[in-house]
Amino acid sequence: MNYEEIRNYWEGRAAGDNTAQSTTQDIFLREIELDVLKNKVKRYAPSSVADVGCGDGRTTFGLASVFEAVRFFGFDYSLSMIGNAKTIVDNDAKNIVFSQSDICNGLIDNFDLIYTTRCLINLPSWDLQKKALINIHNALSDKGIYLMIENFVDGQNNFNNIRKDFGLSEIPIRDHNLYFERENLISFACDFFNIEEEINISSTYYLVSRVIYSKICDDSSVTPDYFDKHHQYAAGLPFCGEYGPVRLICFRKKVLA
Ligand SMILES: C[S@@+](CC[C@H](N)C(=O)[O-])C[C@H]1O[C@@H](n2cnc3c(N)ncnc32)[C@H](O)[C@@H]1O
Repeated sequence: MNYEEIRNYWEGRAAGDNTAQSTTQDIFLREIELDVLKNKVKRYAPSSVADVGCGDGRTTFGLASVFEAVRFFGFDYSLSMIGNAKTIVDNDAKNIVFSQSDICNGLIDNFDLIYTTRCLINLPSWDLQKKALINIHNALSDKGIYLMIENFVDGQNNFNNIRKDFGLSEIPIRDHNLYFERENLISFACDFFNIEEEINISSTYYLVSRVIYSKICDDSSVTPDYFDKHHQYAAGLPFCGEYGPVRLICFRKKVLA
């Protein structure tokens, strides 16, 4: 899919749905991401935070309601997503502002911390992804933090290899997504950022939900259900291995000469 088709895809999803599954069907994966972000916001203690590609704002609100003294800004290029965010999020939340913005066109302001949760994988080329990373770098205050929670082909291939060993079919990358290749990303990003930490936050979750639970479903000819208790259970387990697509990389902005 090209850039416009992907944008229309998100507009369409938001226009037809303001439930918890409008930005992802995998709601327990989003719970994992929210927990990880809570820990990091606590640790880095920023004054201002930008959620780039905030969707319907559920994660933004999950953080803003815990860190009431921090100012949160949710940006998304889909007007319908921003519309949903404004209706879903508690009107009493005084520390959040949502606005329409495309990361490819840059961001205003100097944020102490910026995060993305599965946003940049919706840009259809590596060139656009690099542009977005540079725009994130430019929008951070000196030594600001970028928490990148995005999907990588490396972890995707690893869990699909195990699925194959279990006699399960490969789960393909969706047409509107372009996953990162870790080595490429790191060699580009190291000119702009230092890496503080890197964790595969989806490995345990995928091993349980996309391998073991999938195998149970396959053996009993049942369609897997995102709300199944295996997903819920897996979301509470410690992180281990490299068997899931979604990883967190904590980048600290390098101040360029
Ligand atoms: C998979 S959803 C994730 C939404 C949210 N981060 C979450 O975790 O629930 C991806 C979001 O990124 C947004 N997005 C994609 N490309 C964007 C861009 N260039 N600028 C701003 N938002 C974008 C989409 O509209 C969509 O809401």
